[in-house]
Amino acid sequence: MERFSVAIDGPAGAGKSTIAKSLSKRLGVIYVDTGAMYRAMALHILRSGVDPSDTEAVTKASGSADISIDFADGIQQVLLNGENVSGVIRTEEVSAMASKVSVNPEVRKKLVELQQKLASEKSVVMDGRDIGTVVLPNAEVKIYLTASVEVRAERRYKELIEKGEAAELEAIKAEIRERDERDMNREISPLKQADDAYLLDSSYMSIDEVLEAMLDRIEKKVPAWQR
Ligand code: DC
Repeated sequence: MERFSVAIDGPAGAGKSTIAKSLSKRLGVIYVDTGAMYRAMALHILRSGVDPSDTEAVTKASGSADISIDFADGIQQVLLNGENVSGVIRTEEVSAMASKVSVNPEVRKKLVELQQKLASEKSVVMDGRDIGTVVLPNAEVKIYLTASVEVRAERRYKELIEKGEAAELEAIKAEIRERDERDMNREISPLKQADDAYLLDSSYMSIDEVLEAMLDRIEKKVPAWQR
C-alpha cells in the first residue's frame, strides 16, 4: 500500500471537519485537524495572559507550549503540555484567539513541522487553511471546500439554536466575514486555493453529495488499487 495525503482547505464553516472525518473513515486513514492545533496554541496564549497583538510576547509564550496529538477510537485528541484540551478549544473565545495567533510565524513554523511529520508517517486526510499550499504541497489530492458567507452563517446559526444557545444571524455573518478577512489576508500562509486544488462549493450540496464528489476525485488521483 502506498502512503497518500488528501489536503482539504477552505474557510471556517464550509464543513471541512465534518466531511474530513467521514472521508478518513471511508478511506481507513487518520484525520488530522490542524485547526485544533492552532486552537490549542490559542488556549495556551489565553492562559498565559499575553496580548495577541504583541508578536514578540506571543512568540515567547508559544515556546512553552508542547502540542501533540493522539488518537482515541480513531478520533483526534489534542494535547497541550500533556493535558487533553480537545473539549475546551471549541469556544468562541478560543476561535477568535486562534485566528489571531495563527498569524505568528513561529507558531506556524512549529505546527507546520508537526503536521508534516504526521503526514510523512501515515496516510492522512488533513484539513486547514494552508495544507495544499504550504504544509503538503505534494499531496496527491487537494480540495478547496467553500460555501457562501450566507450559507455558512445559517449553518452555524442552526447549530447554536439546536444546542439551545442564543444566536443572532447578522452577528454570526459579521464574525464569519471578519475571520475570512483575517485568514485570507494575513502575510504568511493566507487561506487560498492551491493552483492544483479541486474547487467544491458546498452551498447547495448535502454532506453526502460533497463526500461522493471527494471520493470521485480521490479515485481519479489515487485509485483504490494503489492505496
Ligand atoms: O478550522 P478552525 O476554525 O478550527 O481553525 C482555527 C483557526 O486556526 C482559524 O482562524 C485559522 C487558523 N488555522 C490556520 O491558520 N491554519 C490552519 N492550517 C488551520 C487553522
